[in-house]
Amino acid sequence: MQNYFTKINRVHNGLTRPLLGFSWRNYSVKYDNITPKINEKIGRNIFLKPNHPINIIKTLVEQHFLKSQPDFKVFDSFHPKVSTKQNFDDLLIPLDHVSRGPSDTYYYDENTVLRTHTTAHQVHLIKDGHKAFLVTGDVYRRDEIDATHYPVFHQMDGVKVFKQGDQKDSGTETLEKHVELELKKDLEGVVRAIFGADSQIRWNVEYFPFTDPSFELEVYFNDHWMEVLGCGVIRSEILKNTGYDTSEYVGYAFGIGLERLAMKVFEIPDIRLFWSQDNRFLSQFKNGEFTKFKSYSKYPACYKDISFWTPSEYNDNSFYELVRDVAGDLVETVKIVDEFKHPKTQRVSKCFRINYRSMDRSLSNEEVDQLQWVVRERVAKELMVELR
Ligand code: DAH
Repeated sequence: MQNYFTKINRVHNGLTRPLLGFSWRNYSVKYDNITPKINEKIGRNIFLKPNHPINIIKTLVEQHFLKSQPDFKVFDSFHPKVSTKQNFDDLLIPLDHVSRGPSDTYYYDENTVLRTHTTAHQVHLIKDGHKAFLVTGDVYRRDEIDATHYPVFHQMDGVKVFKQGDQKDSGTETLEKHVELELKKDLEGVVRAIFGADSQIRWNVEYFPFTDPSFELEVYFNDHWMEVLGCGVIRSEILKNTGYDTSEYVGYAFGIGLERLAMKVFEIPDIRLFWSQDNRFLSQFKNGEFTKFKSYSKYPACYKDISFWTPSEYNDNSFYELVRDVAGDLVETVKIVDEFKHPKTQRVSKCFRINYRSMDRSLSNEEVDQLQWVVRERVAKELMVELR
């Protein structure tokens, strides 16, 4: 299974590039890349609103932990603006990792980003002396546009630090093994609390820069294996950097994406709905209940194609971002429908299909034409592409 930390970068004329050897310094993407549409989302805090589906999942996981382990502390009010040290360096994410590039991450300046994961809070909380905690918040990533990708979403990270001797009662030989078993037991409990006591689950070995060993937990749901979370034993180098004697202490960590769970559990078909202020959406959910979403009438969609020759320094995420900036939540999907390289000039041409649809009203033809016109004007000017 591919996760954020094993993904292959798709930028640069759509040619796939392996993770290593990639250098974002070659790209013309600017550090100051937080658009007004993204800024508007900061502080909306939908995950803290009672009866919001994201809050229902968050509360359920928190209560599940607190019920059996009341020493867990809950954090949910850290601002999403963090340092690159917190988001990357402290977690041993390599300097040349794609997730560090301004094509994938929102930067305030060279050293400050919108967190791309709530793992950004792991190290400072451990340093502050917390031994067991859950931290939830909004996270931000530049990405493609479809029903399951939105530049803002929510995660919950968890950490628990154990001490030599904790393994005695369980009869496990080493503390490391004990931590791994506790991790798996605790997370299986969470998944069963959400998907039912008899759900089928499986563990896969994974890779994350900050844990070793690392795992992924999947649950069998609606005839498919679905990835629910990533986790592992905190790398001893990280614990050591926070001041712990690693011959005495070992910790576990995990991260859960809340939208993915909420979409499955409540049968919410489009990730944009979480941001809806429409009562036909909001009134359907109640904390403590797993009601299925009843879709209200879907308004008609309207698609428009755009084709252009790409310059050598071009990346798809900047195009997606620009479309979002123009059309906001009126854009449902952007799909690449054609791509080819001119045999003589080697220039790459791309054609994208932009699907426009509002969640709560009909769009007029004129309105969509106007949006498309602005998209065309702006891509030509800002991404230096040649429209075809
Ligand atoms: N931060 C990871 C992500 O965004 C998820 C994650 C994996 C968090 C493993 C953790 C962990 O704390 O131990 O994909």
